Amino acid sequence: MNHKTSSKVVLVTGGVGDIGLAVAKQMADCEFDVAVLDVVSRQIADERLGPLRDQGVKVLYVEADVRDRHMVETALTTVWDTFDRLDVCVCNAGVATDLPFVDVSLDEWQRHIDINLNGYFHVSQTVARRWIAEKRQGKFIFMGSWVQDVPYQLITPYCVSKAGVWMLARCIAIELAPHGITANVVAPGILDAGLSRQEMEEHPEFREKFNRIIPRGRMQTPDDVANVVTFLASTEANYLTGSSILCDGGCLAGAPSMNMDAGGS
Ligand SMILES: NC(=O)c1ccc[n+]([C@@H]2O[C@H](COP(=O)([O-])OP(=O)(O)OC[C@H]3O[C@@H](n4cnc5c(N)ncnc54)[C@H](O)[C@@H]3O)[C@@H](O)[C@H]2O)c1
Repeated sequence: MNHKTSSKVVLVTGGVGDIGLAVAKQMADCEFDVAVLDVVSRQIADERLGPLRDQGVKVLYVEADVRDRHMVETALTTVWDTFDRLDVCVCNAGVATDLPFVDVSLDEWQRHIDINLNGYFHVSQTVARRWIAEKRQGKFIFMGSWVQDVPYQLITPYCVSKAGVWMLARCIAIELAPHGITANVVAPGILDAGLSRQEMEEHPEFREKFNRIIPRGRMQTPDDVANVVTFLASTEANYLTGSSILCDGGCLAGAPSMNMDAGGS
């Protein structure tokens, strides 16, 4: 597969996190210039993004909270001022907390919906308006999860937010198809990284349970996920829109026959 491009630009939200960083690195391998939007300090971002800069592409870090429409719009103005274009928008920033449904506070519910769903809306609508004005055929790639399609214990706000992301992508896909803009979802399974690793640190007993429910027999790596994102960003995926690529090592297929008594973002 030839991923080579010239002077194209990708935005990765949550790009300082484990999956986002792997996506940013692989997109840099494909010779995309990279803009990363995240909430972490510039110092932390610079440490994490340092290797990207060694890949010979331009790298921009913008500190912004995806919950804040004004910050998102300002951040995207910075992206356009820096690169004068955007070709691929990867909405990936996310959070997950394990709580029994009856213990989910309104604040915790709102935090999940604000970051995991409203954040995708703010970023994608702002980008879509610019793409339409520029007549640019851009690609949205949303980070979903295998639990966008299956209920899972202890992470109700997360499951609901990811189901919303999947529907948002399909709505965008049909409305913006006439503009040549595509929207697809990548739905990972359980990683020994990022949010799942945070869950395992808080609940060490989850590690054995996660391993047990993954038919593929091992947890996923951030690169396993980034491989699918780079495919969707490539010209080979030009005809795909409104699709979700499930890359979960068989978790969803195996769900009906498994005892899912642990979290699993
Ligand atoms: N780790 C997994 O097992 C797993 C499985 C399926 C899907 N996912 C999804 O992958 C995506 C990335 O998660 P990860 O596992 O790499 O976790 P991570 O914690 O390593 O990365 C998440 C990133 O999002 C950023 N972020 C959080 N809130 C933000 C906000 N308000 N504004 C901007 N940035 C914000 C964080 O600072 C962090 O850099 C998420 O959407 C998650 O739901 C993860």
